[in-house]
Amino acid sequence: MTDANLDPIALVEPLHNTSGVLLRGCGSATPTRSISNDELGKRVDTNDAWIRSRTGIAARRVVGADESLGELSGLAAERALEMAGWKADSLDLIVLATSTPDDLFGSAPRLQARLGAVNAVAFDLTAACSGFLFGLVTAAQYIRSGAMRRILVVGADQLSRWVDWDDRRSCVLFGDAAGALVIEASTDGTDDLEGFLLRSDGSRGAVLQLPQVTERCELIGDASHQQGGFEPIQMNGQEVYKFAVREVPAILASLLNSTGTSPESIDWLLLHQANQRILDAVAERFKIPNEQVLSNLAFYGNTSAATIPLMLDEAVRDGRIQPGHRIASSGFGAGLSWGAALLRWSGPA
Ligand code: ACO
Repeated sequence: MTDANLDPIALVEPLHNTSGVLLRGCGSATPTRSISNDELGKRVDTNDAWIRSRTGIAARRVVGADESLGELSGLAAERALEMAGWKADSLDLIVLATSTPDDLFGSAPRLQARLGAVNAVAFDLTAACSGFLFGLVTAAQYIRSGAMRRILVVGADQLSRWVDWDDRRSCVLFGDAAGALVIEASTDGTDDLEGFLLRSDGSRGAVLQLPQVTERCELIGDASHQQGGFEPIQMNGQEVYKFAVREVPAILASLLNSTGTSPESIDWLLLHQANQRILDAVAERFKIPNEQVLSNLAFYGNTSAATIPLMLDEAVRDGRIQPGHRIASSGFGAGLSWGAALLRWSGPA
């Protein structure tokens, strides 16, 4: 190939004139089977009072025999597209944030096929419970660069596959779900992603992990290979709790400060739904009244990458979140990873 064929200016020239990102539609899907705290008490030594008082969780949904992560992701995405009034073939990109794909090579292309999003490129993104926020920010960069116009971001996880259901310290926390958001380029100066900050600290990764386990197998002569799978979730709950109540207020404060935003100007606090005590501690730090703190973890537990779009969808559909409302959001979890975004809800055109 000659230099003339590799024209760098043509490669970076925007396809679209873009000034920002608009949040247009959302959707969600959860498994049908809900498991209450009392039911879990039949499997492990726990009880409703302990779980509610330490976490705020009353029940969680678990993917059953005829359900799958792909099915939940597809339903959530279809509902988001329907709300926006878009055809799937108008999508340019699909980002599926998940740590529990049906296929380790990636589940996003199957979602693309299911939707009939024939013009979209699709890939998975893994950042545990921060995945949706990381995915949304990643997607927004494609729009801001002018490379793409319409993008679907899905946060979906099936942690029930990887939980040790005999470990009462962790199994009570998690559930399965999918949530979706469709975003598009704005051309009039409106920007629904007013600011964001993302962070990682792999040095603390061991406090919450889903590690691979391998054994050495002979291959040929003195060569060997590793064969294996993954161990169930390992979590140091107290360390994760301390991490969350320290880092989430800090990153939100930095974001509000850097964007010149006062907590009073925020309509909703939408945090990753891990523990009601974490939500309360963050709200207290910013003096945000309870009625502006979105919470549905009582019904679903911690659904990892799905919690933020699942909660967003519920609050949009029941009318709490209205067009023009500003939302301070933060995701945090394994990695360790955490992030914050200042969002605005535009809704369908
Ligand atoms: N039922 C009854 N007793 C329990 C249970 C349970 N389900 N789990 C633990 N206990 C017991 C413990 O054995 C311990 O008993 P002991 O004192 O006799 O040893 C006692 O309760 C206290 O245990 P702690 O672990 O100290 O309980 P803590 O108050 O820290 O609460 C919890 C535990 C709820 C896990 C809390 O630490 C927490 O929420 N941490 C954050 C976890 C989290 O959010 N993880 C997900 C992050 S997002 C992601 O990326 C996936």
